[in-house]
Amino acid sequence: MKRIKIKELLGMQPAGQQVLVQGWVRTFRNNQFISLNDGSTINNLQAVVALNSYDEATLKRITTGACLSVQGELIPSPAKGQTMELKVTALEILGDCDAEKYPLQPKKHSLEFLREIAHLRARTNTFGAVMRVRHAMAFAVHQFFNERGFFYIHTPIITGSDAEGAGAMFRVTTLDINKPPRDEQGHINFKDDFFGRETNLTVSGQLEVETYALALAETYTFGPTFRAENSNTTRHLAEFWMIEPEMAFYDINDNMDLAESFVKCLCRYALDHCAEDLEFLHKRAQEEEMTKPQDQRNELGLIDRLKFVAENEFQRLTYTEAFEILKNSTPNKKKKFQYLIEEWGADLQSEHERYLVEKHFKKPVILYNYPAAIKAFYMRLNEDGKTVAAMDVLFPGIGEIIGGSQREERYDNLVKRIQDMNLPEKDLWWYLDLRKFGSAPHSGFGLGFERLIQFVTGMTNIRDVIPFPRYPGNAEF
Ligand code: 4AD
Ligand code: MG
Repeated sequence: MKRIKIKELLGMQPAGQQVLVQGWVRTFRNNQFISLNDGSTINNLQAVVALNSYDEATLKRITTGACLSVQGELIPSPAKGQTMELKVTALEILGDCDAEKYPLQPKKHSLEFLREIAHLRARTNTFGAVMRVRHAMAFAVHQFFNERGFFYIHTPIITGSDAEGAGAMFRVTTLDINKPPRDEQGHINFKDDFFGRETNLTVSGQLEVETYALALAETYTFGPTFRAENSNTTRHLAEFWMIEPEMAFYDINDNMDLAESFVKCLCRYALDHCAEDLEFLHKRAQEEEMTKPQDQRNELGLIDRLKFVAENEFQRLTYTEAFEILKNSTPNKKKKFQYLIEEWGADLQSEHERYLVEKHFKKPVILYNYPAAIKAFYMRLNEDGKTVAAMDVLFPGIGEIIGGSQREERYDNLVKRIQDMNLPEKDLWWYLDLRKFGSAPHSGFGLGFERLIQFVTGMTNIRDVIPFPRYPGNAEF
């Protein structure tokens, strides 16, 4: 007999049909009622074993966490709590689970504890729901771009370029770190390294995907990126996934339009395709909210927040406009901000971004035209000579979810920027070539996939939306 998934089975009319299901025991009550989950859905199947049909020794092996294969008749349930149940006719224990030693008990565990057993946490309702939503969002990303004629480009993970020019990279080497080869001056000789040069894990696929945008016009990359920043926050990972669309013939406004419709579509997709998991996560988040002081609670629940984003226009304003609002804001005047807003040109901190989004506008915000001095070298200089066509999308509870820009397509401007910022012009020869040979206006942005998943699932810590989080001091599993 072929295995049927519990998700499919729960959508059927129970009429005594014979089915085979396989999954893990969540609970076993009264030596009779097995609550079985196979990961296909948040919902469990109730499998009922007739009293006295199995010997004591077998029943003892049906414990929380054990893996079972059960066959039986699907019948309407006489009891409350479920519409159907499985009347077991054959039961096999595929994998025992010692209840005394199993770290996951049928009770609430803290998220901190679950991070220590990340190899087992997928078996909890919360992580099952989060990872199903994560899958759905990855699928929706590809669907969104495929429907619009964008091409998925696999940019390299090992690279010799530092896309953001910001340092903080993980080195890739096969040199013996105890006795690296040295040149006459005593410097490490990277000519002898695997690639014959210094290399690192990529911080962004942007520069490489730009080369394809200037050939295939509408492209994107979606892959892992690595940042060796020592940030221990609820929004930073050392290894995270980023979606980076890059489009020829798009200016900054086209870029903002695409970014806005992209995240709206993703929220809509989650609402339409992940209803049961979102319902569960909504309740979970609500319980968590109750533990916070009143003034820090969200006004809207998870599902309403997703609807709000999907249905309302984002607020767009320039850095300069935001600067004025912040400068004259109550927390700035009362010196409540940790970093006071005084001089035009200062970088905005997350406290300022949150003020704009959560207090002032009460909706997602797109800030654009930032001071050139605080942004990356590849961003297009505006006519005023002091701002660049950069844009950041800011979300409630998350802060920056997207960062992007129109790119500097003018050769001379780009060279000047590279020189002014003391970047290695030599290493960027191929990037400069794009501006020499058939340059085109173009734009792109990066969406942090885990920050999106945080928003969609309502999980407050980014470490809980990726299967095995990497952060300072942790690379277990
Ligand atoms: O703003 P960032 O650094 O932009 C870039 O990397 C550009 N190359 C993107 C582009 O224009 N193609 O990063 C983009 C997004 C951020 O808005 C944030 O959502 C996410 O990536 N991000 C992180 N997510 C988790 N952990 C980190 N350490 C992150 N750093 C950035
Ligand atoms: Mg950024």
